[in-house]
Amino acid sequence: MDCSYSRSDIYDLEYKNYDRDLRFYQYMAATFSGSEQARILELSCGTGRICIPLATQGFRVTGVDISYPMVLKAKEKWERCKVNGNGSLRLVVGDMIKPPVWGSGYNFAFIPFNGFMHLLTREDQHECLESVRRSLKDKGFFLAEIGIPDFTQGYKTHEIFKIFERENILLCRKMVLDADPCTQIVRRIFFYRIFELTGERKEIESFWEPRDYSYLFPLQWEELLVNSGFNIIKKYGDFDYNNFDSGSRIMLWLCQKA
Ligand SMILES: C[S@@+](CC[C@H](N)C(=O)[O-])C[C@H]1O[C@@H](n2cnc3c(N)ncnc32)[C@H](O)[C@@H]1O
Repeated sequence: MDCSYSRSDIYDLEYKNYDRDLRFYQYMAATFSGSEQARILELSCGTGRICIPLATQGFRVTGVDISYPMVLKAKEKWERCKVNGNGSLRLVVGDMIKPPVWGSGYNFAFIPFNGFMHLLTREDQHECLESVRRSLKDKGFFLAEIGIPDFTQGYKTHEIFKIFERENILLCRKMVLDADPCTQIVRRIFFYRIFELTGERKEIESFWEPRDYSYLFPLQWEELLVNSGFNIIKKYGDFDYNNFDSGSRIMLWLCQKA
């Protein structure tokens, strides 16, 4: 795996306004987690973009992420939250391909925002699904967001764009992308530059992070799920609950522990 996610501060600036998936997961949690005592598991939870709203809403949630800075940030944010009802959030630093140290008995588990795609080998992908299975109750539900491959992109450099500008700070990002149709791995390298805007614009920091994503074609994802002991219940193709079809750009397939 090459995906460090070491800068949780920058991640939160970048995805501050990204919430197009949130209502979908709130609906799924409410519909497929059963009773009020139900437990929900988010693997690759990052800085809590989804698990924090779920927990404040009243769900009992566990969030797991491999990156210590991301989990630390989620904990800081959670401490400042006001919670409804019995809502709770346990945040754990952990690897989703390892046996589930975060426990078992969950009613609903999910891996949003392409987190699963950071697992680059079939072995790791299978291990992760095995871990999810072991975490779930009998007949528990599981869902992951998986992007549809587009290997026509080849090697591409995206334009620099401004992510954030506030007070005296400007944050810019440029991305280089290399999509290899042989391995089905897409490497994205993100270059960040931070400027101070007092008087003359002055660069105060720059850094880069590689992130690798393993893309799966629909039949591969289906085979992986079925071979890992899941029944596919419903194939959504977007966050508006439309069915998965040839126009879909993502796979959001609701599964149940067989
Ligand atoms: C795109 S971020 C998504 C974060 C959060 N779920 C969100 O929607 O904002 C992907 C996350 O996957 C985590 N991750 C990558 N590999 C992992 C692994 N093997 N186990 C647990 N987390 C992992 C990264 O640390 C990162 O926080």
